Amino acid sequence: MNETVRTYSPSETEEVGFRVATKLKEKQIRAHIRLYGEMGVGKTAFVRGFCRAFGISGVKSPTYTMVNEYRGECRVYHFDMVRISSEEDLYSIGFDDYTADESAYLLFEWTENIDEYLSEGGIFVTISRTSENEGARDIEIRLGDGYTV
Ligand SMILES: Nc1ncnc2c1ncn2[C@@H]1O[C@H](COP(=O)(O)OP(=O)(O)O)[C@@H](O)[C@H]1O
Ligand SMILES: [Mg+2]
Repeated sequence: MNETVRTYSPSETEEVGFRVATKLKEKQIRAHIRLYGEMGVGKTAFVRGFCRAFGISGVKSPTYTMVNEYRGECRVYHFDMVRISSEEDLYSIGFDDYTADESAYLLFEWTENIDEYLSEGGIFVTISRTSENEGARDIEIRLGDGYTV
């Protein structure tokens, strides 16, 4: 799954999220998903597609709540870490309880804000704009150590 794909619309980005989720599901791998990329690049779109693979709809940005909890074929916790800057902040949203749930998938937007508090590994998804056109995005998917998908 180490690859970079270019998408041209939100639905194509959702499709990439869907494919990643499907692979993890098939291989029965639980891994946290670390999303990187600037505001408006498509992180939430990716999560929307990921969730669809588990029968979850209604995915919205957890900007104000900081975490959205979804329940489909399994539980998915969707974080927006944009306003998190300390271990105390993380503690206040109950982060330990979420990471302790080994049956769930955890997806993080603004992962860079919590990199130092996350266990190593996971799946690194970096989305960037491209010069090709306004709606083009490069999505790099890189597996952390210990994963082969
Ligand atoms: N190829 C693309 N993939 C994802 N989103 C795109 C793409 N092209 C344009 N967009 C637009 O970019 C925005 C992405 O929003 P969102 O997923 O909420 O970003 P983020 O969560 O990174 O802030 C949406 O307005 C969407 O319509
Ligand atoms: Mg978002």
